[in-house]
Amino acid sequence: MNTQPGLAFEQAPPFSLPLRFFLTAPLFLIAAGILIALTPDALASRWTPQALALTHAFTLGFLAMVMLGAMLQMLPVVAGSPVPATRLVARASHIALSLGTAALMAGFLSGAARAYAAGVVLLLAAFAIFIAAAAVSLVRAAANATANGMRFAVMSLVFTVALGAALALLRAGWWNGSLEGASAAHIGFGLLGWIFLLVAGVAWQVVPMFQMTPPYPPRLSRWLAGVMFALLALRAAAPLLPHPVVILLDAGLAAGVLMFAFHTLDLQSRRRRKLPDITLDYWRFGMASLIASVLAWMLAQLWPAWADSSAYPLLLGVLFLFGFAVSVVAGMLYKIVPFLAWFHLQAQLQAKAGTIPNMKQMIDEKSMRLQFRLHLATLALLIAAVAWPAALHVPAGIVLALSALMLLGNLSSALRRYLQHGGQLS
Ligand code: HEM
Repeated sequence: MNTQPGLAFEQAPPFSLPLRFFLTAPLFLIAAGILIALTPDALASRWTPQALALTHAFTLGFLAMVMLGAMLQMLPVVAGSPVPATRLVARASHIALSLGTAALMAGFLSGAARAYAAGVVLLLAAFAIFIAAAAVSLVRAAANATANGMRFAVMSLVFTVALGAALALLRAGWWNGSLEGASAAHIGFGLLGWIFLLVAGVAWQVVPMFQMTPPYPPRLSRWLAGVMFALLALRAAAPLLPHPVVILLDAGLAAGVLMFAFHTLDLQSRRRRKLPDITLDYWRFGMASLIASVLAWMLAQLWPAWADSSAYPLLLGVLFLFGFAVSVVAGMLYKIVPFLAWFHLQAQLQAKAGTIPNMKQMIDEKSMRLQFRLHLATLALLIAAVAWPAALHVPAGIVLALSALMLLGNLSSALRRYLQHGGQLS
């Protein structure tokens, strides 16, 4: 990620800072697997306490965890200057995000007001610290498509967290205002603003760089984030808008998502070196799931019985959160962690080529392939379990937990190699 010219080693945060986020994230996927295996309720209806806890194990425990770590690493490159107080920001936001996610999940599962309150306080602290630091970098950042995407993603994160906190306090009974439309706005900004726009923003830079493809069309990378953010902001006022306008806004958002997915697949098919690559496979699979999630949404517009079924929102969630977001993020981890291990080792030891492992040797290729297959099996089982939760929740949960455990093992093996060759953590 720091292969851009101009980034000195001194500007990169120590390896241990992003790494703590990357190694904590799979633990929440393991927790998600256990939750699914323990009860069919997690996949029976979107509003069960277990389904809400599961959603946030994915969105906060895995996705936000990796995204915060990756942004701390990328912002100095994107903005051209380090994030202020990086060490403090990384340590504090990592602890608060880990504990806050666990507390919010406990709040959903138990309904206890204290757990909700602890979750809200810790998560507000985690994101406030991170967003304040990221904002300093992003304000200074030169105009480029990735910085632009990150700006809109971080603005969406602000709305997501604020609305989420208000909804959690409402559920805890600490407050009893009316929040019409807040839930839909929280979900829209969270999934399409924060997760999707950040993935797209990062993709503008890393897909051509790591997968050796031609660049994205500048018109797409320049406009997509701003247009989608504007549509999301209008969509948040849905209770005040006539229904056809809401459908139009949704169609615009779906079109933006499809444009990104199809362009990414097209660029990947035109890559310059056609060598097998696990990140590429993860990304292609992620894009196929993203397209499938839009198809599931389209079907719901045409077929009201499908839209009203309890399976529809769960399938949408499984395809978008697991099939798309978890896949591209896991694929990126398989590039970022070996790259950082190699980068820090090289810089610390001033090693000659051949004396330290190269990027490809940091994690065993066969283990990554096996883990990818388990990941594919997990998605298939999760989709089937949405249709038959009682029959399939146990295998779906167990395979998810195994796949996440293997992801953790693979990432840890890069750390082991790094330490064996004398790498320092801070
Ligand atoms: C930052 C990333 C986040 C994302 C992507 C996200 C996503 C979601 C999604 C998709 C749902 C709907 C779940 C379903 O339909 O089963 C949801 C619901 C909810 N989220 Fe989040 N969330 C995030 C952060 C937060 C935070 C930080 C909090 C609290 C501090 C929170 C509190 C809630 C609550 C209370 C609900 C239930 C909504 C209701 O009662 O109507 N979320 N979230």
